Amino acid sequence: MTTIAVLGNGRVGGNLATALTRAGHEVTVADRTPGAAADAARTARIVINATPGAGSLDRLGALREELHDKILVDVSNATVDGPDGLPAHLIYPGSSLAEQLQEALPATRVVKTLNTMLFPVMTAPTMLDQVPDAFLSGDDPQAKQTVRDLLVDLGWRKEWITDLGGIQTARATEAAILFVPHVIRSGGFAPFAVSIAR
Ligand SMILES: NC(=O)c1ccc[n+]([C@@H]2O[C@H](COP(=O)([O-])OP(=O)(O)OC[C@H]3O[C@@H](n4cnc5c(N)ncnc54)[C@H](OP(=O)(O)O)[C@@H]3O)[C@@H](O)[C@H]2O)c1
Repeated sequence: MTTIAVLGNGRVGGNLATALTRAGHEVTVADRTPGAAADAARTARIVINATPGAGSLDRLGALREELHDKILVDVSNATVDGPDGLPAHLIYPGSSLAEQLQEALPATRVVKTLNTMLFPVMTAPTMLDQVPDAFLSGDDPQAKQTVRDLLVDLGWRKEWITDLGGIQTARATEAAILFVPHVIRSGGFAPFAVSIAR
């Protein structure tokens, strides 16, 4: 059992919080109420960022103390939306939100994962015709192992989880968001994941 704070109570945050609670973890969910994120982060061992990517660096940068020595699991994507409300541009081209977070929070171990799929797949990887990859990016091997164990709790088998390497590799998975508007326009909001065929 691990104490986990989920920041954001939307589609992603709510879904992850429900599944992690079912898996036996002690989960606190923080909405945007002032102080809620700080309170939740302070008492947790693992903090999951499930808030919009655009403001994540400011929001999490303000929690430097609360996130000291913690694992920060970042599942967000930082994009500017186009007129149709779908992601159009990356906010950190040539870098990634995960790298920016790691730089802003040197005493926190950032792990990027699950940002390459629609939210229902995160907690039900077998719902698609092919089982997708869950990618991991992060500089700390132990933190990545802890996140790997959490993914297993969410229904991911070890062989479906691909460790891409250091935090810089999040550039690749964050850029995969650029597939999303085109996939949604062609196929609607049916669950999908960006994955590597082998
Ligand atoms: N949806 C997906 O399938 C999917 C897949 C992969 C990654 N992601 C990423 O996951 C993150 C969450 O996506 P989502 O679909 O769950 O979004 P969502 O349903 O809109 O939920 C976002 C959550 O963040 C909160 N929030 C928004 N602005 C905030 C602020 N300024 N301060 C504090 N909290 C704030 C929202 O609170 P309110 O309800 O009060 O606005 C809500 O609880 C995003 O970064 C997204 O790119 C989403």
